[in-house]
Amino acid sequence: MDPRDRVAVTPEAAGGPAGPCAMVLFGAAGDLIKRKLMPAIYNLAKGRLLPEQFAIVGVSIEPFTTEEFRQRMTQDIRQYAVGGVDVASWEWFAKRLYYLSGDFKDPQLYEKLADTLAQVEKEQNTQGNRLFYLATSPEFFPGVVQQLGAARLAREEGQQWRRVVIEKPFGHDLASAVALNRAIGEVLEEKQTYRIDHYLGKETVQNILAFRFANGIFEPVWNRRYVDHVQVTVAEELGVELRGGYYETAGALRDMVPNHIFQLITLTAMEPPISFDAEAVHDEQTKVLRAIQPIRPERVLDQTVRGQYGEGALGGQRVPGYRGEPRVAADSQTPTYVAMALHIDNWRWAGVPFYLRTGKRLQSRATQIVIRFHCPPFVLFRKTSVEQIPPNELVINIQPDEGISLRFEAKVPGPAVRLGAVNMDFQYADYFGATPSTGYETLIYDCMLGDPTLFQRADMVEAAWTVVQPVLDVWKALPPRDFPNYAAGSWGPSQADELLRREGREWRDPTRPGPRHPAAPATAKS
Ligand code: BG6
Repeated sequence: MDPRDRVAVTPEAAGGPAGPCAMVLFGAAGDLIKRKLMPAIYNLAKGRLLPEQFAIVGVSIEPFTTEEFRQRMTQDIRQYAVGGVDVASWEWFAKRLYYLSGDFKDPQLYEKLADTLAQVEKEQNTQGNRLFYLATSPEFFPGVVQQLGAARLAREEGQQWRRVVIEKPFGHDLASAVALNRAIGEVLEEKQTYRIDHYLGKETVQNILAFRFANGIFEPVWNRRYVDHVQVTVAEELGVELRGGYYETAGALRDMVPNHIFQLITLTAMEPPISFDAEAVHDEQTKVLRAIQPIRPERVLDQTVRGQYGEGALGGQRVPGYRGEPRVAADSQTPTYVAMALHIDNWRWAGVPFYLRTGKRLQSRATQIVIRFHCPPFVLFRKTSVEQIPPNELVINIQPDEGISLRFEAKVPGPAVRLGAVNMDFQYADYFGATPSTGYETLIYDCMLGDPTLFQRADMVEAAWTVVQPVLDVWKALPPRDFPNYAAGSWGPSQADELLRREGREWRDPTRPGPRHPAAPATAKS
């Protein structure tokens, strides 16, 4: 039997439609809504995961009417839908779109919102359940939450639930994250607060847990006795595009590390939770974050590397350096690349470095986690021409390739003893086909069901900022003198190679061929 026959990966497999509710989208005229959120919610509609009693109220400063908003969304969905638009389901969906214009800082907006919600709840019978989604610029987060509180819009009553989704960035540093948590905590209970990290919406990221905890054979080797080190690479080809204004205040470290990359690290390094309940999973993730050795200030420049891209070439095209991008200062010191070595101080991982790197305008897009095992204890093939045996390597490909491969040595056919590296390779698409998704579908659906497992708890966010804060401080005190220090289209600054080289290791080339394009056996000298 073809293994594909055994798996049902239709949206319906997720379960039935969520219960009745109205979603309020703050920032409705923004990019995130048209590119990601609307296409994701519409995919849920197509997969029959939205309830009949459903509505969306878009809120922003733009002076649209509901009719104009529906027209805009109808145009945008044609451009941004992932997996096509069909007329009937879009008509069903568009009838449930409403719009309210106003200033997020104006208390009157929230009075009007209460009226609009009352009307919408009557028309669409959404039964008073409300999901507020803050897809706004982060400066509005605390204010909007406070206004929701003052207008009593977020107070749960009887069976009616009220939840608030907060986009990233969640704070700018440790102090601001703590302050934001406190401001939110004055209005909302933790169980009403859904801090989103879209990496957790990626199937391949969720699969890290399934891979580790639904299989008996990997867990015994998943520790310092067998693992030499772990590498996490999140490489992007894109530059900052039109987001220079935001990125100038953030930079690569804030933008990617305490959120996306730490999600990858915690899922890879955590202990088995006692259950898959949100609290149990979050407890284990938080323990990993708390176990990461804070980098001492005097070690920051040794254990971290920062970079900024200069001009270069990508895909045969010349591209400008970061300082030449729109809304970026001509002498900007903002890093667009970061690499660092972290150590997790616990029994499982003591002595196993976790190397991470992420950057914009790198040679190709690739997100992967590499588990590099120890080399065999000695070379048994001494009397042959084999001089060195490379370590086994497990690679979890998150994107754009989605799958897992294990590299091991095999005998190259022939009379002489020669070894060659081969891969055992699992590709998602081979087994499950392609499921068109923006990555937000699962997260929005879970939020409607009230399952916070794939969201971040307040203490996780603070623990993550605690790890990166010393780096932010030292980098601020000692501005870089060599920016730009890597060319667009390269693999980043040479210091990142040095970071591993001086510990006798090297980054895995994320584009290294797998079994589909086998490389010549290279590990044995003949
Ligand atoms: C966002 C960052 O959170 O994640 C962006 O702000 C980055 O700078 C993006 O490009 C990467 O997401 P993905 O899903 O394309 O890997």
